Amino acid sequence: MTAPFFQVEQLTKKFGGLTAVNNISFTVQPDEMVGLIGPNGAGKSTLVKLIMGILKPDRGSIRFKGKELRGQNPWDIVNRGIAGTFQNTRPFRRLPIIANVMVSCLAPRGRRRGEWVKRIEAKARDALEFAGISDLALEPAAHLSHGDLKRLEIARAIATDPELLILDEPFGGLNPVETELLAKSIRRLHRGGRFGRLHSEGMAMIIIEHKLSELMKIVDRVIVLHFGEIIAAGTPREIVKNPAVIEAYLGEEGA
Ligand SMILES: Nc1ncnc2c1ncn2[C@@H]1O[C@H](COP(=O)(O)OP(=O)(O)OP(=O)(O)O)[C@@H](O)[C@H]1O
Ligand SMILES: [Mg+2]
Repeated sequence: MTAPFFQVEQLTKKFGGLTAVNNISFTVQPDEMVGLIGPNGAGKSTLVKLIMGILKPDRGSIRFKGKELRGQNPWDIVNRGIAGTFQNTRPFRRLPIIANVMVSCLAPRGRRRGEWVKRIEAKARDALEFAGISDLALEPAAHLSHGDLKRLEIARAIATDPELLILDEPFGGLNPVETELLAKSIRRLHRGGRFGRLHSEGMAMIIIEHKLSELMKIVDRVIVLHFGEIIAAGTPREIVKNPAVIEAYLGEEGA
């Protein structure tokens, strides 16, 4: 039997007495786009930080293409082909946008031979183009709006050529028109193809999002977290009528 493309098994993370991620297991296939939802504090961002090596799990394993990622540093994980964007963006504020993206291309996986600076600059430009902020390339990151910082995060992530891309609330701070545009771009990036000079082979994705209506349109499968545990998993159609999921969300609104 071949190993799953991406597999999380019995993953647990505690913060003192609080179990933020509790015994979570799931897999993602190379051609899948998986939505990860759940009320505030459900453990979604903690799960992303565990996968990206920013937090260390107390228990469990994270395997990518058959190799264990647990215990690896964030840069090792990026080098293996997983990139993530974070809910709270932390760019190099004084550096121009393009330089912020070029830094992401410095991962050792990229070869530094010949005219490598020109190559990563071209790559960074393509990533900015894809993210829709190429006209801001020379602005310092400190000048960006919240929505544009989200796009910068996406540009930085895709510039590392990931095989698995994890997006933590990509639509946060975007208006409906921007959301729709970004959703289309994300779908295209997932399927693969040519974007200007950027060529994408397609990539697996895990998307965390509170704007459920937008998310449900683009994902194949949804995993629902509540108090650190998976309470439901299924197609978007199944999830929207799942009583446990409705209960979890109504409980939040009522609180
Ligand atoms: N570094 C930390 N130290 C202590 N508690 C933390 C830490 N990070 C997260 N938590 C707690 O862990 C729980 C899960 O938080 P997490 O940020 O993963 O939730 P989330 O599902 O991403 O929520 P949101 O939808 O609001 O982004 C919350 O109760 C949160 O307060
Ligand atoms: Mg979060």
